[in-house]
Amino acid sequence: MFNPYEDIPDDREICKVADQLWGINGRSQMSLNLFDIIKGRRSVKEYSSREVSNDVLLRVLEAGRWAPSAHNAQPWRFIVIRDSALKQKLAENMANRWNEDMSKNGIPKEHRESLIKNSVERIGKAPVTIIACLTMEGMDKYPDDRRNNIEYAMAVQSVAASIQNMLLAAHSEGLGSCWLCAPLFCPDIVRKTLKIPEHVHPQALITLGYPAIKLNAPTRKPLEEIAYQNYWGYST
Ligand SMILES: Cc1cc2nc3c(=O)[nH]c(=O)nc-3n(C[C@H](O)[C@H](O)[C@H](O)COP(=O)(O)O)c2cc1C
Repeated sequence: MFNPYEDIPDDREICKVADQLWGINGRSQMSLNLFDIIKGRRSVKEYSSREVSNDVLLRVLEAGRWAPSAHNAQPWRFIVIRDSALKQKLAENMANRWNEDMSKNGIPKEHRESLIKNSVERIGKAPVTIIACLTMEGMDKYPDDRRNNIEYAMAVQSVAASIQNMLLAAHSEGLGSCWLCAPLFCPDIVRKTLKIPEHVHPQALITLGYPAIKLNAPTRKPLEEIAYQNYWGYST
């Protein structure tokens, strides 16, 4: 199983010292350098059967709660699912819609079935699933679509920030996670399965659990390709 201590040996001593100084035994990964947490987080697709404690889960949610948000509206709502039968039902319902969509694209049945089987297994076998939702309740309202659309974009960005906070907190706790976009493609199905009101928008499904395997980091674009100085495209 992936162990952040093993993965980043230089930080092991720092963690021990932090444990002694601040008495945060049992959550010492929190003292890993922030940059190590950011770079070490991976999208984990296979989890061990080890349970995720409520304490750990609450810290992950707490990290989501402290994300920045437009107007400090905190437009995120999270549904935590541990119940295996409900997780399975949600995964299957979403997969059925995905199957219909893929069929419209002419994807052969065999290929569709294999993708769907994988997807249902991935969600069903993850010890915890969190559905991140968006509510516009606390956002500003305007008489025109232009500004209302901007408010919606701000709410989406705020929910995304809270999701990223949770992924980082999860990693710092030794958990793996994966951000899945599937609910965006079938919000009606997710709403119906989880009794979510019509005005709430399911944005993402996050799987959480202890990683079964260690993953290598996918590559990132070089800095000069994505960050410019003063003007678009100027890197020098
Ligand atoms: C908005 C968003 C949607 C994503 N949706 C999926 C998804 O549906 N399935 C999946 O396996 N990974 C999904 N991912 C994870 C990305 O594939 C992953 O972050 C990327 O490949 C980089 O890998 P890393 O997270 O391990 O660094 C999503 C990530 C984001 C930010």
